[in-house]
Amino acid sequence: MRKGVCVALVGCVLIGGGMASAPVLADADEDIRYRKLQMSTMGGSLRAIMSIAQGKLDKSDDFAALVNQAAAATALHESAFSANTDGQGSEETTAKGSIWENWEDFSGRLTKLNAGMQAAAGAVNDGGSTEDVVAVLKDQVFVNCKSCHDDYRTK
Ligand code: HEC
Repeated sequence: MRKGVCVALVGCVLIGGGMASAPVLADADEDIRYRKLQMSTMGGSLRAIMSIAQGKLDKSDDFAALVNQAAAATALHESAFSANTDGQGSEETTAKGSIWENWEDFSGRLTKLNAGMQAAAGAVNDGGSTEDVVAVLKDQVFVNCKSCHDDYRTK
């Protein structure tokens, strides 16, 4: 009985939260551009990191800085995605409105991605080898990309 009341109350709180309309943003386009900047900074840095690791890009002196650059961008993802821009702005975006309807799930995935990226930065800053860093990226970072894009991007 008591449990039933709790469940009902939690249900009410959740329904209330879900129905609250998204606040109108000062400039939704700036929010959209900002989160794309952080995603593409991480993605571009990771691409360069892998090109160096595979010997395609002769920039091994930049390796540690690139890992830290990717980590700095990833640490800003939760803030970058926090503004619900659904239905606002004219800047091109592939972000689905379901991100903010399922914020706990979405931000949880960002937390997991960030934990992996910070672990890679920790490895490089502790003097780990290129192979060590790539192993962390493969185990804890790249595994997160596709599933989230599949669920939360329009294409
Ligand atoms: C928690 C979900 C999530 C994870 C994990 C995630 N992304 Fe994204 N990513 C998104 C969403 C949502 C967008 C669309 C942003 C927009 O268009 O407003 C996006 C967009 C991008 C873009 C395009 C940015 C632009 O300029 O339009 C790149 C590149 C990208 N992600 C790379 C990655 C890579 C690489 C990984 C893994 C290392 C990754 N993402 C992991 C959700 C995620």
